[in-house]
Amino acid sequence: MRTTVGIIGAGPAGLLLARLLYRAGIDSVVLESRDRAYVEQRQRAGILEQGTVDVLRAAGAGERMDREGLRHDGVELRYDRTRHRVDFPALTGGRSVTVYAQTEVCKDLIALQLKEGHPLMFEAEALAVEDADTDHPRVRFRTEGREEVLECDYVVGCDGHWGVARKAIPEQLTRTFERTYPFAWLGILADVPPSHDELVYARHDRGFALLSMRSPSVSRLYLQVPEGTDPESWPDDAIWAELERRFETDDDWRLARGPITQKSVTPMRSYVHEPMRHGRLFLAGDAAHIVPPTGAKGLNLAVGDVVTFARALTYERETGSAELLDGYSATCLRRVWQAERFSCDMTTLLHRAPDATPFEDRLQLARLARIASSRAAGTDLAEAYTGFPFG
Ligand code: FAD
Ligand code: DHB
Repeated sequence: MRTTVGIIGAGPAGLLLARLLYRAGIDSVVLESRDRAYVEQRQRAGILEQGTVDVLRAAGAGERMDREGLRHDGVELRYDRTRHRVDFPALTGGRSVTVYAQTEVCKDLIALQLKEGHPLMFEAEALAVEDADTDHPRVRFRTEGREEVLECDYVVGCDGHWGVARKAIPEQLTRTFERTYPFAWLGILADVPPSHDELVYARHDRGFALLSMRSPSVSRLYLQVPEGTDPESWPDDAIWAELERRFETDDDWRLARGPITQKSVTPMRSYVHEPMRHGRLFLAGDAAHIVPPTGAKGLNLAVGDVVTFARALTYERETGSAELLDGYSATCLRRVWQAERFSCDMTTLLHRAPDATPFEDRLQLARLARIASSRAAGTDLAEAYTGFPFG
């Protein structure tokens, strides 16, 4: 089998890249190890930056998002039983975010790819990327019980944190940067209208809590829990009781309860792999970097990477110059490190470490008060939350 761009992984990065290349007249093959239903149902991110929304729309993949996505012009910070709204458009010159789940982005892109795009193969597991530093890289993969080879001009590893693409970059050329956190998020989906019309990020002495949503009738909520927590060790009533405590205010705001339809625990970590390119192998999305979820940057970073790659390859096709491809890693990493900084800051601003001291508690409250009272501090948060420009 032969193609111009071999794409490993059909998460948001791989699927959007295939779509962007198709629109640019460049052929590709996507290899995805799991089946379609699994990819379409994996619950993950929910917030799209303005830039991500614009890219999906321009790629002809924004029709349902425009109908069903919820535009949000702010978030609420809740601490010390008080509430403070951060107004995005007022602080950023009109920018906002959109609530539209990763599952829905993936469903839309898969449907388009299967209808009019280049091949997208499910249950096709990449085993290794070979000859990455030559002009004929290859992906060895397994499908229907047999091994095959995909010959490519370029390979893009969009295969997430546990994929195989990253392993093809020699260790002596690689540097990794990492931080782990001593807590995780217990996430639930519940069949109940969201108790607030915008997201609520709550800092509490008992730990962080987040109120988000998937639609006007489905709530998505998260609780900070110790790392390694088994979701089944949290009965539904205990989850609601804990959420109520952490969201408590001095006014008459109340959290509405409803049937919990899904429960899972997400570990938290920061990770960056440098460089993001080796020869004709490019890494995109979680294959190259992980952020803790506070601030919802993971999916948006993946989008930024593949937009950068698609532009660079299109430029090479149009001008014969590999300048943008050569700059891929440096261009992406500038944005990646800003998102790493923001996600780490938001995490430490809002979570309570198991060994937190009263001094650190006061510092957190002082930082939150600063964001609430200073336009400059509020603008800093609003600019990062609504997104950095794609490079
Ligand atoms: P992925 O979505 O991981 O896609 C990689 C794809 O590659 C997968 O479909 C996988 O099956 C496939 N694959 C892997 N190995 C192979 C192989 N060898 N051959 C072929 N295919 C392969 N971000 C947020 O902003 N907010 C959140 O609330 C949030 N929650 C998250 C919860 C969890 C449990 C996880 C893991 C991540 C979460 N994220 C969240 C992060 C966000 O979902 C990711 O940043 C985003 O999915 C990255 O997209 P991606 O396409 O790079 O990788
Ligand atoms: C969601 C996830 C996040 O990490 C976040 O910061 C906001 C919302 C969500 O899944 O809805």
